[in-house]
Amino acid sequence: MYASNDIPFLDLVTPHVELEEELTAVFRRALYTAGFVGGPMVEEFEQAFAAFCDCSHSVAVSSGTDALRFAIMACGIQTGDVVVTVPHTFIATTEAISQAGAIPEFVDVDENTYNLSVERLQEYLEQGCTRDGAGRLISKRSQRPVTAVVPVHLYGQMADMDSILRLANQYGLAVIEDACQAHGAEYFSGKLNRWIKAGSMGRAAAFSFYPGKNLGACGEAGAATTNDAGIAAKMKMLRDHGQAKKYYHDIEGYNGRLDSIQAGLLHVKLRHLADWNAKRRDHAAEYDRLLAGNEAVVCPYEPSWSRAVYHLYVIATDDRDGMMNHLKSAGIGTGIHYPVPLHLQKAYKGLNYRATDFPVCTRVAGKILSLPMFPQLLPEQQARVADEIHRFVPTALISQ
Ligand SMILES: Cc1ncc(COP(=O)(O)O)c(C=O)c1O
Repeated sequence: MYASNDIPFLDLVTPHVELEEELTAVFRRALYTAGFVGGPMVEEFEQAFAAFCDCSHSVAVSSGTDALRFAIMACGIQTGDVVVTVPHTFIATTEAISQAGAIPEFVDVDENTYNLSVERLQEYLEQGCTRDGAGRLISKRSQRPVTAVVPVHLYGQMADMDSILRLANQYGLAVIEDACQAHGAEYFSGKLNRWIKAGSMGRAAAFSFYPGKNLGACGEAGAATTNDAGIAAKMKMLRDHGQAKKYYHDIEGYNGRLDSIQAGLLHVKLRHLADWNAKRRDHAAEYDRLLAGNEAVVCPYEPSWSRAVYHLYVIATDDRDGMMNHLKSAGIGTGIHYPVPLHLQKAYKGLNYRATDFPVCTRVAGKILSLPMFPQLLPEQQARVADEIHRFVPTALISQ
């Protein structure tokens, strides 16, 4: 759909035009039934999305942030509890933690995967925490009980879930997956000896359907998943003013429901998600091939236990800003996910972290560059992106 020679970072127009008939039929169904909030279109999508994630329940809500907040609350995390996560993620991860009444505390990411480092988590639990008289795990930095960990499957790549779940079990922590970028990603569990879908391993998980996500709505949307019927019921109450029955409010909740039009549109697009994810994986393999041998570029690292869905294809390079500007002047869109680690954001000044606290995350933030990545990306577009990257880097650094 882009006529010029420019290569967009993301093409959101083509997939919608390709599905125009099916998508407009959803609007018609909503108009002719006036079922705008809740109802069959939402329930049908919830069942289909739960099946896609190999989960018994999915609760559709108004955004990924709400999904994560409701998941944290429904898992019983209390006001003032500490929830551990990474500083290398979108701020919605920590907003959801804070808005659930908890306190985010960080551990650094892994040098290669950019996801939560199991070594740093273990170090935090062993050295950054103590036990109080009642045997509760207490954070030494905040003196508050530590009750959950939120691994983020960033860029569509799984965090090392077996190891995280083992530590969480050992320390009695709830694991709530931030799978907002990882619809369909899979993890090979050595423990269970099989591949497992993102969003089905923790006590609950959150997905975002923001338009640019692997599965995106035509507006704001999200869903939480779980295999626990009680947690699902609690999340349903939280999204709907705390009511399980109309006008009978067991708790105070939120207006966090999903529009039925969005649910219908998502249901149409869900049928294409496996194919779109496979295309993203092919494009990632092609970038890997095209960029191999360029010593100035580090391609994404995919451990043997991760089948990533490449929401983003993120390279690392020393002169990131120079390369970004070069690509921009060549008409190629890129992004930085994310330029400022959360512990250095103004919003989290009050958490009192030092600039030197998470060295891997801080180093990575200065080097990462997200290249164009979407299912409809063409081979010739990828070749041009790679050519421009090679052109930018001094020839001496390119091995033959
Ligand atoms: C890692 C992560 N967590 C949470 C969210 C929040 O999702 P939403 O924008 O749908 O609220 C996003 C979305 O950008 C995300 O990328």
